[in-house]
Formats: sequence, C-alpha cells, structure tokens
Amino acid sequence: MSEGPSNALRVAVIGASGGIGAALVGALAKRDDVATIHATHHRSPAAGSKASVGAYAEHCELHHHALDATDAVAVEGFMAAVGEIDWLINCVGMLHDGEHGPEKSIGQFESEHFLRSMEINCLPTLLLGKHAARALGKSERGVFATVSARVGSITDNGLGGWYSYRASKAALNMSLKCLAIEWGRTRKRLRVAALHPGTTDTSLSAPFQANVPAGKLFSPSQTAGYLLARIDALHDGPSGRFLAWDGEEIPW
Ligand SMILES: NC(=O)c1ccc[n+]([C@@H]2O[C@H](COP(=O)([O-])OP(=O)(O)OC[C@H]3O[C@@H](n4cnc5c(N)ncnc54)[C@H](OP(=O)(O)O)[C@@H]3O)[C@@H](O)[C@H]2O)c1
Repeated sequence: MSEGPSNALRVAVIGASGGIGAALVGALAKRDDVATIHATHHRSPAAGSKASVGAYAEHCELHHHALDATDAVAVEGFMAAVGEIDWLINCVGMLHDGEHGPEKSIGQFESEHFLRSMEINCLPTLLLGKHAARALGKSERGVFATVSARVGSITDNGLGGWYSYRASKAALNMSLKCLAIEWGRTRKRLRVAALHPGTTDTSLSAPFQANVPAGKLFSPSQTAGYLLARIDALHDGPSGRFLAWDGEEIPW
C-alpha cells in the first residue's frame, strides 16, 4: 500500500449501507486526499467493498463496522475504535418502514412510528456528538455533518403533513444547532452542519418519486458529489448552518 499525502483525511461515514452513505463512501474512496474511511452498516450488508466502490485511490483504507447508531454503548465503542478522525458524516435516517409511511394528516399519526422516527433520525446525532468530540478534537479541518432534510425546517414548512419525519428532522436540526454553539466556544476549528441532499433515488424516497420534477431526482453518486462540495467548503464559513445540496442556506 502506498502512503497518502501527509494531510490526508480520515473520515467516518455512519449509515454507509444506505443509498447516499454508500455513494459517499464510493466518492471519498476515489479522492487522493482521503486516507481512511470508517463505514458503518446496520441491518444491510457492508457497502463499499472494492468491487462495489470501483476505482480506489491506492492509499485509501476502508474499514467496515457494524453499528446500531441508536445504541449508546455501541456508539461509544465505535468512536473509541476509530480513534482520531477529521470528518464525521452521518447518513442514518428513516422515512418509512414496512408498516408505516409519512402521515398525510394527523389522523394517520401513530405513537410507535413517531418514536421510531425520533430514534433513528435524531438520536444518533446526539450520541455521536457526545462521543465524537474527542475523535474530532485535534483536527484542523474537523467536520461533524448529518444528512437532514429540508422538510425539517420549521420556517420552510408550507405544506404540513409528514408529522413524524418533519418533527424528527426538526429535532435533529436543533441538536446540530446546539452542538455548533457549544463547540463554537470550545472547538473553534470544528464545523457542524445539517445537509439537505435533494431528492435522491434511494429506497427511502422510492415510494415518493412520482411527482419529482424532471432533473430533480438525483442519482446517489450525483448527490454524493454535491454533498462533498458542501463539506469541502464548510471551513470557508461559520459553523452551524443548514445547507442544501446546491449551497443554498436553508432557514432552520
Ligand atoms: N433519499 C432522499 O431523497 C432524501 C431526501 C432528503 C433527506 N434524506 C436523508 O438522507 C439520509 C440518507 O437517506 P438514504 O436516502 O440514503 O436512505 P437509505 O438508503 O434508506 O439509507 C438509510 C441508512 O440508515 C441506516 N440506518 C437505519 N437505522 C439505523 C440504525 N439504527 N443504526 C445504524 N444505521 C441505521 C441504514 O442502515 P441499514 O440499511 O444497514 O440498516 C442505511 O444505511 C437520511 O437521513 C434521509 O432522511 C434523503
């Protein structure tokens, strides 16, 4: 294995078995400035084998970890195992499962789906935040980013509905805002961000793609390119922003 550049990035991608997470691993693995990728999977098999990622930068090491990102003990163990990193990108999320989808009206609301949405869409970021501070602490270009969703913006909500998903993403956004404020005092080189990927062709969006305007349904690799462009530029601006795939700043 050849040695990468001395300033090479060490990146953890949480939820790398999903559509967007796997594409991020694929894009990161091809970059000359990425030395190490820690990719997590939960129920799905690990994504990002040499075969599925395709071309690889020679020096890039890919480590797979099984992780339930809602399990506090497991998250603590994972963060201890990865050691120092520069970027943490959390792609874990849920919009629907076998039994429930997003609510069109409050009459469809069910406690179990709401609590599961909060558990998957918000809790991992808080657990990761608790245990990632030390791992990211020494990096000069540290990034703590979670893939959120525009529908989690309270200001931007013009349509209503989707109670559980919207509420859990709004809670996620508040968590990220709090982390940005806290770390703004103590870890000034760290950038915290919520990222909206745009509608992306994954299993999460599959049932809801019918009305997506032409050209607005992105392939996962297209979205990965957009999100990495946003992450690459995070140190050009302040911490604590909610950014869309195209760089638009979304109101919280
Ligand atoms: N696709 C879109 O159009 C779109 C639009 C806006 C926002 N987003 C957001 O983008 C993010 C990624 O979505 P996606 O489209 O890539 O969805 P996806 O293909 O369904 O991927 C979801 C990921 O979440 C992981 N996950 C679920 N529960 C977990 C748990 N308890 N512990 C660890 N990992 C868990 C899954 O892992 P396993 O499969 O291994 O269980 C999978 O890797 C989500 O936060 C989603 O809300 C997506």
